[in-house]
Amino acid sequence: MRLLEWLVWSWFGLQATVLAQNLYDSDPHIIELTPKSFDKVVHGTNYTTLVEFYAPWCGYCQQLKGIMKKAGKVLDGVAQVASVNCDVAKNKKLCGQYKVQGFPTLMVFRPPKVDVSKPVSERLQLRNHASEVYQGVRKLSPMVDFVLSRIKNYVRRINGTGKLCSILEGQGRKSLVLFSKRDKVSPIYRAVALDWLGVFDCFTIPNSKLSGLAEDNQLATTNPQISQFLQETIPLQMTSEESMLVAFDTANDQYQVIQCDSFTKPQISRALSAAFNVTPMEGPLSKREQYLHALRTGSKKSQPAKKIHDEL
Ligand SMILES: *[C@@H]1O[C@H](CO)[C@@H](O)[C@H](O)[C@H]1NC(C)=O
Ligand SMILES: *[C@@H]1O[C@H](CO)[C@@H](O)[C@H](O)[C@H]1NC(C)=O
Repeated sequence: MRLLEWLVWSWFGLQATVLAQNLYDSDPHIIELTPKSFDKVVHGTNYTTLVEFYAPWCGYCQQLKGIMKKAGKVLDGVAQVASVNCDVAKNKKLCGQYKVQGFPTLMVFRPPKVDVSKPVSERLQLRNHASEVYQGVRKLSPMVDFVLSRIKNYVRRINGTGKLCSILEGQGRKSLVLFSKRDKVSPIYRAVALDWLGVFDCFTIPNSKLSGLAEDNQLATTNPQISQFLQETIPLQMTSEESMLVAFDTANDQYQVIQCDSFTKPQISRALSAAFNVTPMEGPLSKREQYLHALRTGSKKSQPAKKIHDEL
């Protein structure tokens, strides 16, 4: 930017500061961050976050606004979308800390991998997420794809019935198994795995990879009820065009087919909490969700979003 231009914009900036309007105050999916909320929202989570550092007077930021709002809707429940108004005095240090040099700056914050096999006390307490400046095209789909590619995947793929049985036999924690009509792991299932990290281990097995249960499987001895359930269900599921979500508690030889009209995160969380008396770490029904909801809405009302990633 040339000096004169800069001066003009700075003057506008001053005016904007007086008005103190954030670009996303009225958006139900984008969190306007402050130094007080930044670390808790961005670093205190196993979710990935897209953050836009902006100034309300900047033309490119205004152009990006519509795309950001769409990204917020599309990524709702899958990744966090947030923004920092660098024009506000109390936010300036934060923008400096992340070396924001121009507006808008889009940054993606990626969580460290959690090893849930280790006891909580031995897990790396690396709270700081890795940050990366998004250098791609400022359009909806490349931005969304970039964020999706930075989401940690805790869903393990299983490629056969034998493997499923051996995994269930050795399971200390509860597990969630998606018998899936598709091969790929959907963003929403990856988000479910994040919500329940450390509580349920998540697996997926494509219907096409299923085969009959071996007569002599170990599971029949250790978990007779689960084994019987699989024996009855797998032949049906092998040829099914539908997905089926089942929670297993091998320690108590219990299972629960999660019945939902459509597999949305709130429905899954409600079903799991009701069946096993557990609460998720993040997402619907979690304490953290209440905190985020308050930040997001303040006095604004949340509207139901039309999502493109609401299918498992
Ligand atoms: C991520 O999830 C693990 C397992 O539930 C939890 O111990 C850890 O505190 C979470 N990390 C953050 C930053 O919330
Ligand atoms: C599943 O993967 C293992 C290797 O991880 C392989 O040995 C096995 O043949 C595969 N089974 C099927 C049914 O594809």
